[in-house]
Amino acid sequence: MCGIVGYIGKAGAPAVLINGLKRLEYRGYDSAGLAVIDDERVVVAKSPGKVAALSDRARSEWPEERFETCTSGIAHTRWATHGPPTEANAHPHLDGSGDIALVHNGIIENYRALRARLEGKGHHFESDTDTEVLAHLIGECDKGDLFQAVCDALHQVEGTFGIAVLCSREPERVITARRGSPIVIGVGDGESIIASDASAILAHTQRVIYLDDNDIAIVTADSVEVRDLNNIPVTREIAELGFDAEAAEKGGYEHFMLKEIHEQPECLANAIRGRLDFDLGTAVLSGMGTSPRELAELDRVVIVGCGTSLHAGLVGEYAFEDLADIHAEVEQAAEFRYRNPIIGSRDMVISISQSGETADTLAAVREAVQKGAFVMSLCNVVGSTIARETGRGVYLHAGPEISVASTKAFTCQVAVLLMMALKLGRGRRFSREQGMRLAREIETIPELVERVVAQSEKIRKIAADYADAEHAFFIGRGPMYPVALEGALKLKEISYIHAEGYHAAELKHGPIALLEQGTPVIALACDIPGRDKTLGNVEECRARGARIVGIVSEGDFEVAECMDDAIYIPRCHPLVATIPTVVALQLFAYHIANIRGCEIDQPRNLAKSVTVE
Ligand code: M6R
Repeated sequence: MCGIVGYIGKAGAPAVLINGLKRLEYRGYDSAGLAVIDDERVVVAKSPGKVAALSDRARSEWPEERFETCTSGIAHTRWATHGPPTEANAHPHLDGSGDIALVHNGIIENYRALRARLEGKGHHFESDTDTEVLAHLIGECDKGDLFQAVCDALHQVEGTFGIAVLCSREPERVITARRGSPIVIGVGDGESIIASDASAILAHTQRVIYLDDNDIAIVTADSVEVRDLNNIPVTREIAELGFDAEAAEKGGYEHFMLKEIHEQPECLANAIRGRLDFDLGTAVLSGMGTSPRELAELDRVVIVGCGTSLHAGLVGEYAFEDLADIHAEVEQAAEFRYRNPIIGSRDMVISISQSGETADTLAAVREAVQKGAFVMSLCNVVGSTIARETGRGVYLHAGPEISVASTKAFTCQVAVLLMMALKLGRGRRFSREQGMRLAREIETIPELVERVVAQSEKIRKIAADYADAEHAFFIGRGPMYPVALEGALKLKEISYIHAEGYHAAELKHGPIALLEQGTPVIALACDIPGRDKTLGNVEECRARGARIVGIVSEGDFEVAECMDDAIYIPRCHPLVATIPTVVALQLFAYHIANIRGCEIDQPRNLAKSVTVE
């Protein structure tokens, strides 16, 4: 995810900004840049790649005194969303006059319309970004008062932003604002530091002001004045940070995995935002680059992926068949390439990969391209190899996933697959009303997940009773079967407990022989079709001494009574329910691993991106 740093004070701004960016590196990014005011001009340095490359460039290209005399500036680490990670797309972006510089986190949803309007007025753009459009819009609104120009521009913007703005005319102030993307202002001694997260501030002060949505602040070296977008002053208290730099990188969470689990409501909102058309009851996924006719003519969807991405694909299989009435198959990417699969031009091959670099998935993509299939990708990392080679697809917008154990990528993958299935379904048998209903269900996903994340402490208490287990079984039916596989994968990879996921009906065909007194069985038994049969399977396990943790629907006390422990998820559409259910399993695995003292973020033998076959 992108990072923002701004500085105004008495120290040399370039070094402060670069150090601040280094504190944000953990978030993941692919280019960086900074702007300072020197001799009444905005000067910018940008570089693809790491902050160190940016620092080298500024040191080699800028005069040395600039590092001492320039005391205000803004900086950014960019994680590409609109356009590849090039120098041109890196922030800061300038307005048309070059007097105003902007760094921005978030997504300006109406940037295309704004860009067209500004181009009509003669503006010329050098990047693919939504941010440059906002910079030009601020310039267009500028009548001599930067603060007012920023307010006027933000009134025209749809979407999310955390921004910092610098203007050569007003070197003694930086303007910052937020809506949906965090901004925190460090109040130092004769200096102020603006950042998208507190880790960039800790070296300077523990005293901070958190902006709320639609706040805009005028920041000088000695003051912070917060107003709303209508220029009405608002009061924001100064708070103490109360945590150290290491904790701050993880946003105060003990592990990246826990942070990423908690981030899911926000990530899912980002993955879904702007992609549902409630009037037409469909999804708007322009990256798929397909016409309704092409979609209607498809014979089959084939999904390839590995690990967690494969499990998301298995949920997708249910979604495509159920919602889009199209034959769907899922293949382990590693197998696909060597099996000489029968694939043709009426097949849509969807490759799923968080990193976009997994070797087996990439090989499957190349094989599908060779065979003339309609190939698309569902990646998180923008500009990754799979995303580039497929050329079509949908990005997750989940932000960087640092923990080796994938969490937020899975839930965003499933959410995007549901939207893809909705889009295909509308071209086939789904009516407008059915589409509208499903779109409304998908829209609620972030809130459903929020309600599960809020149960983390309760889940920790349940997990404590199972932390000594040597084996565990996860069972589910229908779309909950792949969720059982994913729950087992999460538990085994971070806690080193041997865990297996099974279709609930399969247990009695062999694995039930392994059940002993007290063996944990995690039963995915929420109130969707198949619940009663799953309950029957639960009874079979109980009869053999297993201890049952049930994932059950809120208010379903009849089922909860069959369980030794119950974790409740909100009632929702059966396919949507896979998402809150897996979040409960992620928390269950996390807490068990933590209680066992495991190395959670980097489990033994595992790599985040598997680039070998
Ligand atoms: O980057 P990808 O989604 O292609 O990675 C695929 C798997 O290596 C990955 O999902 C792996 O299974 C996870 N670490 C599991 O948590």
